[in-house]
Amino acid sequence: MRVPVIAGNWKMNKGPKEAAALINELKPLVKDAEATVVVCVPAVDLHAAKQALRGSKIKLGAQNVHYKESGAYTGELSAGMLREAGAEYVIIGHSERRQYFGETDETVNLRVKAAVQGGLIPIICVGEKREQREAGYTDTLVTYQTLIALTGLTGDEVSKTIIAYEPVWAIGTGLTATDEQANETIAVIREAIRAKYGKRVSNKVRIQYGGSMNPKNVKGLMAQPEIDGGLIGVASLKAADFSQVVNYSK
Ligand code: PGA
Repeated sequence: MRVPVIAGNWKMNKGPKEAAALINELKPLVKDAEATVVVCVPAVDLHAAKQALRGSKIKLGAQNVHYKESGAYTGELSAGMLREAGAEYVIIGHSERRQYFGETDETVNLRVKAAVQGGLIPIICVGEKREQREAGYTDTLVTYQTLIALTGLTGDEVSKTIIAYEPVWAIGTGLTATDEQANETIAVIREAIRAKYGKRVSNKVRIQYGGSMNPKNVKGLMAQPEIDGGLIGVASLKAADFSQVVNYSK
């Protein structure tokens, strides 16, 4: 059985003080979580978040990683740096990175490889835009995005990654994929992984849903057999909301 992962993506919200305050509020509310709980904070918050997380099972994540170990890459951060600052997870290829910062499937792949080499667990985001869904390209697109992102990893490494299926039209819009739509597309992603890496790997890899997941819709989504958790934006910024998502089964 796959242990679900509920990860908060704070995006560009909260400085170190607010980060510590939110974590302190969150800790008691999620202490009995059955899922793995992760908070992906802005890089400047990692240190304060690490301190605040002491004595808690909540894991710490970053929101991007560069693919080189060091060098002349102004504004970028390496896997080694993020590890040293306390991160264990890292979001890669979020649609906002693809849309606003020129991220491509190829750079996503480079970052995924660097994360795995550097000991970080990547949360790899894939998902279609509205017009791509309407044109009937969702399955082809998420298959392509997933397989390119994983290129060069061994089956064992793939089995430890996390994929986040995030339909772009559902992110930050209040629109959610229906439970069935999310389940179907995640099944397509799992099948693509099975075809390339085999059943042992596809049975292990955890595939989250993301896109306006919240306390109201989490139960229905998590009841779907293929959905192994969520990547949560807006609803991760308030302890009450995020803890309700985390504790969906209670
Ligand atoms: P949202 O963001 O929950 O605010 O839609 C999800 C995400 O972008 O990961």
